Amino acid sequence: NWTTGNVIEEQVKAIRELVGDKRAICGLSGGVDSAVAAALVQKAIGDQLTCVYVDHGLMRKGETEQVEKDFVAATGVQLKVVDAEERFLTALKGVSDPEEKRKIIGREFIRVFEQAQAEIIADEGPAVEFLVQGTLYPDVVESGGGTGTANIKSHHNVGGLPEDLEFKLIEPLRKLFKDEVRMVGQELGLPEEIVHRQPFPGPGLGIRIVGEVTKERLDLLREADAIAREELTAAGLDRDIWQCPVVLLADVRSVGVQGDGRTYGHPIVLRPVSSEDAMTADWSRLPYDVLARISTRITNEVRDVNRVVLDVTSKPPGTIEWE
Ligand code: XMP
Repeated sequence: NWTTGNVIEEQVKAIRELVGDKRAICGLSGGVDSAVAAALVQKAIGDQLTCVYVDHGLMRKGETEQVEKDFVAATGVQLKVVDAEERFLTALKGVSDPEEKRKIIGREFIRVFEQAQAEIIADEGPAVEFLVQGTLYPDVVESGGGTGTANIKSHHNVGGLPEDLEFKLIEPLRKLFKDEVRMVGQELGLPEEIVHRQPFPGPGLGIRIVGEVTKERLDLLREADAIAREELTAAGLDRDIWQCPVVLLADVRSVGVQGDGRTYGHPIVLRPVSSEDAMTADWSRLPYDVLARISTRITNEVRDVNRVVLDVTSKPPGTIEWE
């Protein structure tokens, strides 16, 4: 008889037995899966777990703080935050090609993560033998049966495995589906904003800027994205849409008229979609008044943006993200 209580109890017991007096580490991405996996393992072994969060500077507004404050407050977990914004921005300098961006972000992430691991391992204390991963059941199935599937984008899961892995894996969510993971997270006392967070890609806003990624553009996109999220939440639409990427067309300019006169600014694209599993998706028919509020606020409040456009493409043919 499946209950979240049973799952937690079983896993806590199994993890305690497995880990003994050794230590474990876990990469946090800000996403639901890694957060719930970490919270579960923390419940089992407390301070024998250290979490690592790599801030690549490509997160949305408030996300790093959410991990730093809310997650730690809810779980009491030991957290190591690595500020790697400059490193990522330097590595991304001059790069516009989506696949190249993804590869750079993936590579830098693993480097920073490994360095943090090494520092944790080098400190005093019992051996770090285990690595916690938020692998879900659909991930297990997908990676087992992936033959012949066209590789459309090189997906990079933050928390991705180093190639010469020397850890034993703890994957406490391996038998669960997303909705079950959310229930477990809720039962473990994680905040609503973490448990019901919509999917967000590992490479973050880096693949939502069409063109080169710069700090200035990231700040601009962060503002626009925060406005869209605020208005969608205020309209009670968070659970109706799967996710809503907000994209900055940094290489495109159009003429506008704002305030005193002519502007020559960038468009922001809203890409709200509904989906079951992200394999296919349909564009969400959002209420016009909500779209209007988002558009007015973004063009009023975000510097250099003079146009907001709505993406009305399904997947296929369009992927959910623009890059
Ligand atoms: P696409 O754009 O391929 O996206 O239709 C499907 C789903 O995957 C997310 N996505 C990613 N998630 N690392 C991730 O962890 C990635 O590199 C990545 N790329 C896309 C996307 O947000 C959508 O939910």
